[in-house]
Amino acid sequence: MSDLRGRRVVIVGGGSGIGEAVALALRDVGAVVTIVGRDAARLETTRQRLGAKVRAEAGDVSDEASAARLFTAIGPFDDLVTTAATSSSLLGVSASMADMPMANAERFMAGKFWTQYRAARAALPHLSARGTITFTSGVASRKIMPRHTVIAANNAALEAMAKQLAREVAPRRVNVVSPGLTSTATYDHLPPERREAFFAEVRRQLPTGEVASAADVAEAYLFVLRASALTGAVVDIDGGFLVS
Ligand SMILES: NC(=O)c1ccc[n+]([C@@H]2O[C@H](COP(=O)([O-])OP(=O)(O)OC[C@H]3O[C@@H](n4cnc5c(N)ncnc54)[C@H](OP(=O)(O)O)[C@@H]3O)[C@@H](O)[C@H]2O)c1
Repeated sequence: MSDLRGRRVVIVGGGSGIGEAVALALRDVGAVVTIVGRDAARLETTRQRLGAKVRAEAGDVSDEASAARLFTAIGPFDDLVTTAATSSSLLGVSASMADMPMANAERFMAGKFWTQYRAARAALPHLSARGTITFTSGVASRKIMPRHTVIAANNAALEAMAKQLAREVAPRRVNVVSPGLTSTATYDHLPPERREAFFAEVRRQLPTGEVASAADVAEAYLFVLRASALTGAVVDIDGGFLVS
């Protein structure tokens, strides 16, 4: 399925960051894209940036009833991409196990693992027989780093779940894209000089010497959607961070 023209793709998280870049790339190859997010005003601003061919549906996929309503409103489609997460910095989960309040750890798992799980569960009845599901994890699933216990668990849980689901819902294909550090608004809370120092440190460490943009990472999703032999896979797109 190398031609994505006319494929009906729903992107949960398409209102910002990597999800928006995936929406743009898919729009440009002729896919019929619907972006989903909770913040209706931000979603509409993004939709206007993406143009009239892209549709937007506001809703919260972490709530079962709301997710069911959302996918019923969208109707039948071919491909689900989900990039949804609650920012780790907002919840202060880059912390040691001892220092991190349990409630924050649980909210983080709810905001990423359970949210993407619920999105897939609610989408399945509407997904075509040859459809695909693409989750988003992150490099911490397999990279040992200080203060990453709950971030690692969140991402590893998504990867493990996706491999099981790939068997369960075959011949639909189920995969995961695992980004490394990607320059998105997620890091806008940092003062500019701290952000730049952080990115410079990452550049020094990465084999590619570059921090990926959201557009760079979007390429992995297009590959996953096109690659008809790919299922149960985790595609790492991290500038080589896993081998650094
Ligand atoms: N940026 C990085 O460096 C990096 C590195 C590794 C992995 N990742 C992963 O890549 C993914 C995307 O990251 P990003 O930087 O693009 O973050 P982002 O801009 O915060 O994207 C997350 C999107 O998910 C939506 N969302 C969250 N919860 C939702 C829910 N319950 N229902 C519907 N939509 C929901 C958000 O919109 P609303 O808030 O409007 O709902 C937002 O548009 C995340 O899973 C992140 O963990 C990112």
